[in-house]
Amino acid sequence: MLTLGILGSGSGSNMQAILDAIEEGRLIARIGLVLSDNPEAYILERAKARGIPTGVIDCAPHRTRFPDKKQEETACRLKSAGVDLICLAGFLRLVKSPLLDGFPSAIINIHPSLLPAFPGLNAWKQALQAGVAETGVTVHLVDEGMDTGPVLGREAVPVLPEDTPETLHARLQVVEHRLYPDVIGRYARTLQP
Ligand code: GRF
Repeated sequence: MLTLGILGSGSGSNMQAILDAIEEGRLIARIGLVLSDNPEAYILERAKARGIPTGVIDCAPHRTRFPDKKQEETACRLKSAGVDLICLAGFLRLVKSPLLDGFPSAIINIHPSLLPAFPGLNAWKQALQAGVAETGVTVHLVDEGMDTGPVLGREAVPVLPEDTPETLHARLQVVEHRLYPDVIGRYARTLQP
């Protein structure tokens, strides 16, 4: 069965949505391992509560960099857990060749904008500041760039005149939670014989 590995730095609501989809039979997969670069991240609590193996990627003293050695170690841990496809879910470090080479065309990410618009952090705030009428959610393959890989799925979300960063982000997350498991399932079918 398709085994997913999840990397996240924060709340883990997308990881939860993937798990819900698995438990409801909407996604035929299992989560083999959840790793976080932040030992305090709530994603680890959510995973433990559902009996999913977890671990911490200790990148100290680097606050934002993902050192090559740590990427190699991460690839090994995910391989040992039998992971076929890595899903980034709010993971805040840039993945580069040591991890990409271990999982060619098998790392995907979800981003809260219609890429290529508004890559990087706080994409919903960027959208509000730009005054666009529409933003959205993109699921894409990860390459060496920041939020630049080939798009696997996307969905638009209107920006309302009364939107605050919080209300817009909340509506984007509703779409993320539906779109991510759906795209994972569709992409996985293209990987498997
Ligand atoms: C999501 O908005 C996702 O698009 C972005 O980071 C956020 C993670 O949220 N990459 P969560 O940790 O899944 O709740």
